[in-house]
Amino acid sequence: MSANAEAIELAKSVESTMETLMAEHRERREHWYFHDFIDWEKGESFKEKPWDVSQSTLSPEVRTAFVLNLLTEDNLPYYTSLFGKYFDEDSPMNRWSRLWTAEEGQHAIAMRSYLLTSRNCDPRLLEDDRMVTVEGGWNPQFETVIDMFCYTSAQELATRISHRNTGVQSDCETAHTLMAKIARDENHHFLFYRGVTTEMLAQAPDVVLPALNRVLQNFAMPGTKIPGFARRALQMARIGIYNQRIHAENIIDPLLRFWKIEDITDLSPEAEQARDDIFAVGPTLIRAAEKFEARQDRVSKKAASVA
Ligand SMILES: [Fe+2]
Ligand SMILES: [Fe+2]
Repeated sequence: MSANAEAIELAKSVESTMETLMAEHRERREHWYFHDFIDWEKGESFKEKPWDVSQSTLSPEVRTAFVLNLLTEDNLPYYTSLFGKYFDEDSPMNRWSRLWTAEEGQHAIAMRSYLLTSRNCDPRLLEDDRMVTVEGGWNPQFETVIDMFCYTSAQELATRISHRNTGVQSDCETAHTLMAKIARDENHHFLFYRGVTTEMLAQAPDVVLPALNRVLQNFAMPGTKIPGFARRALQMARIGIYNQRIHAENIIDPLLRFWKIEDITDLSPEAEQARDDIFAVGPTLIRAAEKFEARQDRVSKKAASVA
């Protein structure tokens, strides 16, 4: 049996857990409506009053974070299609996947409505970026379907933190409220994927630990097709919306603590190695973060001495 066939079998064997997690999700999630949170009265005609950067109220970095987070949401249907091909149309996973996509859709609509009514983005550029992003697609080369569950566990948690921090740093009550609502939804998505991964880990740690290692070693947010992604991500990193330290301390650490992977016994040599490698991910990220922060520090001191 190929590695992916074995992985699909494992994922299908936890379908009752998916049903339970989906039922819990429906019970727990708050059904909110984005139109209740947008300041529509602030909206003005772009025909009569063309957009100009001077109309923006958010800092350039927070505007960038908003746009990057929004474009990631726009691209969400690609996740659905990735999962879709491994499961039957009416399987719990595909039913979850459609519900998930519908919820993510509101995030994109809500953030776009906020940016347009508050004039915190260039509307033409935003649409051009959306076209390039969605046309470019998102096709990560996951080795097995288990990698996808490990990835979405980390990615939903990362998205939650990125959205939340964007709202916190916006200095705008509407943005803060909206992003907190969205972040709460991301947390619920995270709980679904972490729950599925937890069950698979309990059943087949020899399969899941190598997948988790592959994902955590090469983790990247799904934005590489977004125009100027590296430059934009760097802006977000600088002001602490999302960076390597946050990734290590708020994503990797809590996930590893929750899964208690140090306590798993009777592992195959490959899974033992994967576990050792997984434990090295956080410290490597922290060392990179320290270098980044030292560089930032030098740049700010230099700028202060010139001024
Ligand atoms: Fe979302
Ligand atoms: Fe999400």
